[in-house]
Amino acid sequence: MNEAMLLVLDEGTTSTRAMLYTPDGVRVGMAQRDLTQYYPRPGWVEQDATEIWERTLACAQEMVAQAGSADRILAIGITNQRETVVAWDRRSGRPLARAIVWQDRRTADQCQALRDAGHEPLIQARTGLVIDPYFSATKMRWLIDHEPAVAQAGDALALGTVESWLVWKLTGGLHISDASNASRTQLLALDGAGWDADLCALFDIPPAALPAIVDNAGDFGATCPDLLGGSIPICGLAGDQQAATIGQGCLVPGQAKATLGTGAFILAPVGDAPPRSDHRLLGTILCQLDGRRRYALEGSIFVAGSLVKWLRDALGLVGSAQETEALARSVPDSGGVSLLPALSGLGAPHWRPEARGVIAGLTQGTTRAHIVRAALESIAHQVHDLAGAFAADGAPWTSLRLDGGMSANDWIAQDMADMLDIAVERPADVETTARGAAMLAALGAGLHGSIEAAVAQLPGRQRFAPAMDAPVRADRLKAWGALLAASERALP
Ligand code: G3P
Repeated sequence: MNEAMLLVLDEGTTSTRAMLYTPDGVRVGMAQRDLTQYYPRPGWVEQDATEIWERTLACAQEMVAQAGSADRILAIGITNQRETVVAWDRRSGRPLARAIVWQDRRTADQCQALRDAGHEPLIQARTGLVIDPYFSATKMRWLIDHEPAVAQAGDALALGTVESWLVWKLTGGLHISDASNASRTQLLALDGAGWDADLCALFDIPPAALPAIVDNAGDFGATCPDLLGGSIPICGLAGDQQAATIGQGCLVPGQAKATLGTGAFILAPVGDAPPRSDHRLLGTILCQLDGRRRYALEGSIFVAGSLVKWLRDALGLVGSAQETEALARSVPDSGGVSLLPALSGLGAPHWRPEARGVIAGLTQGTTRAHIVRAALESIAHQVHDLAGAFAADGAPWTSLRLDGGMSANDWIAQDMADMLDIAVERPADVETTARGAAMLAALGAGLHGSIEAAVAQLPGRQRFAPAMDAPVRADRLKAWGALLAASERALP
């Protein structure tokens, strides 16, 4: 291998990976390690930040070995699960507590108290985010309130999302966060240059513990030579959903992407003015390049791939994720079974952290194929709810670009096109998150003149055209609406 390479670190919720890309965006290597999930109480989700670091480093070392040497790597791009909070000690570089993962619902009461006290309008207007345990600020507060090591760390306390943690470890002490990740903490105003003093005061987070906010592409610092056998510049940073949006080439209004990973995240670019949603979508920073921000509206669905994982690991209904496609095709419909996948509460546009999942419509004739099909159908139902919210906010999708591991399932891609009644497009390589991080790293390393130039190199996509009869769609949506309403009635 003689060509210079880009190294991407794609740190997701359930696994961390490193990938090698050629400068023009072809993926030539991948190493992957699973991450341990801890569920100490119902609704709590934790990870070990040391494990995240060690497994990410091991993957990176594998890829450097494949490239031949660190000299062959032009730049590193990092992309990560967003909102997850790490607290560490600046002196030792060690975590002070388990990381609290974005799916964790432990701060639901704190969020309700903030809502009851009337803080949501200000928070939403300033950050684009609703009040929900999903975001980092209440998780940071929880760590300070409940973890003695965090409370006692004083000036040594460092708080950050996962890209901050990885950059700190890779560089031996640089504390930065890119604007796309920072916009998910609830401590950054969409149009604010630095951490918002009012929000830090409201959530009672010490600003000195937070990283400096930087662009998504640039020369941020270099890795310690002993880690990867040489010093490699870090030139791209982005939250995974923003990276996927860029990796899908979605930069202008009308375009939209849906990444089916652990959850399902739909982002639609809206231009360079901070968006305001009236329909419970999130306004978020898509990217900041040369100090200039572009924004997106986002619909965050908490459960997608994790639903299939649950069918496999908790219920044993399938042996592998791949099996779901054949099972869904083996029956003409779900046999009247419907499923509300609220395994981590409900995200956009419902925002009900207390919601629990429901399976309805069971009969003696129900088989596992019906339940699996109902589970897969629920993905398109959730995305359909979001399509309505985006359109009502003045940001309708002309088509939807699908990616993420679960999008390899043709049945899901076709069902999405059918339920949305628009074309769904899928690139041949569905790892668009990593591709976006590679594009940002290439931009930061000076290989592209602009992000548009990087997007112009993207290959074409496979198209799934809608083919469902309107009455079938209407029946499914009616059953879905009834399920949502029933779950509201059953819960306080
Ligand atoms: O906001 C959470 C998101 O960044 C997690 O992404 O790929 O792990 O589902 P993923």
